Amino acid sequence: MASVIIAGVGSYAPERILTNEELAKTVDTSDEWIRTRSGIGERRIAGENEACSDMAVHAARAALADAKMSASDIDLLIVATCTPDRPLPSTACIVQHKLGVPAHTTCFDISAACSGFLYAMEIAYGMLITNRYKRALIIGAEKLSTIVDWSDRTTCVLFGDAAGAAVLTKVAQPGIGIIGSDLGADGEFADKLMIHAGGSSCPASAQSVEARQHFIRMNGKEVFKSAVRVMETVCREMMEQHQLTPDQISLVIPHQANIRIIEALAGNLKLPMDKFFVNLDRYGNTSSATIPLALDEARRSGRVKPGDLTLLVAFGAGLTYGAALVRW
Ligand code: ACO
Repeated sequence: MASVIIAGVGSYAPERILTNEELAKTVDTSDEWIRTRSGIGERRIAGENEACSDMAVHAARAALADAKMSASDIDLLIVATCTPDRPLPSTACIVQHKLGVPAHTTCFDISAACSGFLYAMEIAYGMLITNRYKRALIIGAEKLSTIVDWSDRTTCVLFGDAAGAAVLTKVAQPGIGIIGSDLGADGEFADKLMIHAGGSSCPASAQSVEARQHFIRMNGKEVFKSAVRVMETVCREMMEQHQLTPDQISLVIPHQANIRIIEALAGNLKLPMDKFFVNLDRYGNTSSATIPLALDEARRSGRVKPGDLTLLVAFGAGLTYGAALVRW
């Protein structure tokens, strides 16, 4: 049985750093509140003329270089994002053109919010393992600063902009790479985290803009509770399916939304916090970009070694969730 491996990883974060102290000058908040309630210290903000696709291209170039491949090697390109450049066409097609990925490549976006990268990975796995595709480029890219209401202190302190990418390919050796994946969704919680207007159920209008309905609205407490529950469940299921005990996991790369969510997950799984990679203090929640961005930093800082077993786990609006096991 062949395997699908992660042949390269790359990431990109815009230069501009927005600190908690700066935010506290524009909304009624404080560095102390943000750090204690979320663990976030600063986040990155993309330039006015820097689109989601531009960040995606930076991350993709880094992932291709890491995999020692070029854009012409790619025959499948998936972008996971909730902040596409435009409603039409897909950001994947824009990235294809900017990156120089050949014509005839299959390109599409997927919408699974913060779980988007893991959804993209599972889709690419399925398409590669059937032999219909050879090399996939999957990207999580977000310009969340454009959908955050900068006057709403309950959400604006949490999010940031970034992109992360991975190149996947099939190899003959069994038992390495993506050895397991489990995705799910619970639409019952769809209204707990949403953007009300701008879609077909409530098209953009002067009234919707006036009512600030094009920004993220969230019931933070409900999302928090659901996040801990679904991430714990999906991690346990993944370990049971593969007959693993928590101590066999070398590193957990969780979605970076809130340090308290990660601490609660660690406590419930009875895993020490030093098994969890955390960089949300520097980037905040970058939705579909958090996992590839964290994975890239984890690899570059030597926290992922050959033979290691890494557990990736995410949740997001929908409420979507997922986990994947990767043997390096
Ligand atoms: N600064 C100061 N005070 C604030 C701020 C702020 N930025 N935000 C809220 N408060 C106030 C509230 O108004 C409230 O005041 P009150 O008691 O007078 O009413 C108080 O602080 C406590 O607010 P809570 O909402 O109870 O704070 P909580 O401890 O729940 O933390 C938070 C809020 C950080 C949002 C938390 O609930 C959370 O992280 N939830 C999950 C969010 C998340 O993970 N979202 C994922 C998005 S994923 C995606 O798909 C995009």
